[in-house]
Amino acid sequence: MASHIMPTYGRLDVCFERGEGAWLWDENNKKYLDALSGIAVCGLGHAHPAVHEAICNQSGKLLHTSNIYRIGVQEQLADKIIEKSGMDNVFFCNSGAEANEAAIKLARKFGHERGIDFPAIIVTDLSFHGRTLATLSATGNAKIQKGFEPLVEGFIRVAYNDIEAIRNAVANHSNIVAILVEPVQGEGGINIPANDYLNKIREICDRHNLLMMLDEIQTGMGRTGKFLAFQHNGILPDVCTVAKALGNGVPIGACLASGKAATILTAGNHGSTFGGNPLACSAALAVLETLDKEGLIGSVEAKGRKITSGIAQLLQGNTHVVDIRNKGLMIGIELDQPCTDLVKTALAHGLLINVTQDKVIRLLPPLIIDDMQIKLLVDTLAMLVAQFTHQLSTPNNHAA
Ligand SMILES: Cc1ncc(COP(=O)(O)O)c(C=O)c1O
Repeated sequence: MASHIMPTYGRLDVCFERGEGAWLWDENNKKYLDALSGIAVCGLGHAHPAVHEAICNQSGKLLHTSNIYRIGVQEQLADKIIEKSGMDNVFFCNSGAEANEAAIKLARKFGHERGIDFPAIIVTDLSFHGRTLATLSATGNAKIQKGFEPLVEGFIRVAYNDIEAIRNAVANHSNIVAILVEPVQGEGGINIPANDYLNKIREICDRHNLLMMLDEIQTGMGRTGKFLAFQHNGILPDVCTVAKALGNGVPIGACLASGKAATILTAGNHGSTFGGNPLACSAALAVLETLDKEGLIGSVEAKGRKITSGIAQLLQGNTHVVDIRNKGLMIGIELDQPCTDLVKTALAHGLLINVTQDKVIRLLPPLIIDDMQIKLLVDTLAMLVAQFTHQLSTPNNHAA
């Protein structure tokens, strides 16, 4: 069918019409279990009544004014984010990439104020920070950069989860002003660093007066079992970016700053027409209030364990399964073979999953997933992986 949509996505041939909690229904009324949450967006599930009510109420009052005026609900949301994160202030925007753009600008200005004319930011292999020019330049994936050169300068790349590599980069470049990492790499393959990785980055930043900047766009809003993943480490970054699950599907992003980083951007330095408008902020406020009211974050780690241990048990002895790892409800099942075909097979079986880095099945179920849905997810996925790997082991199928 001819489409008037620019073909920037490889889409699956399914169109969802409605959802409720962890369930989705397509145009033909087929029901699916959503173990992806729109890639870590709908943490509260679909059509959550609190978000629905907040949006309806706000749209009947005021959708948009402008950041040239005070916005009450934006101020309320900022208060709530600061209370939950321990950071000092917030810049609101509309997406993850924009939140990272704000962080990158903040770091550069921090550098200029220290007399560094060509400030550079340490970033990591396999990272994902977005698709704008600066954020794709920061991203550690050549496929995402190819065709869009010249890239934005000012990024120095090191291996992920390698503190020595950061120390060497800092020792060898006098223009480094910040370190930007994801607490767990999502697109990169659910890569979970050493427990003290963030603590050591904090120490390096303190010693060298660098900004510690965390991209929590995928890890934030309770996904790993804390509101923000850095809270597992008992540290505070200087800058932290969030988006995705903040609005549960209503586009909103934010760049949080603390301490010296909170005073860098001043009037006229940065802005966004829609950023932090009343509609988006009312949705995000409802999300944060619901996380608290329903105590959802407290059960994330147990749910994550239940899913990974269930799958590990059913796939025990399967030699094609290289690793099953998770931080809360960020779950990766790594096979020894490319397995993107599993996405379509799972869809046919009424299950939404994702495969990243060719070989890592990625699960990002909504925080509200219940025991019955967890069992369905575990049983269906283990069955599909067993079938898939059995085919791989059957010599006749290799040629296919
Ligand atoms: C860690 C991380 N950073 C940044 C982004 C970009 O966010 P957005 O697509 O909202 O621009 C993503 C999106 O997948 C992400 O996972």
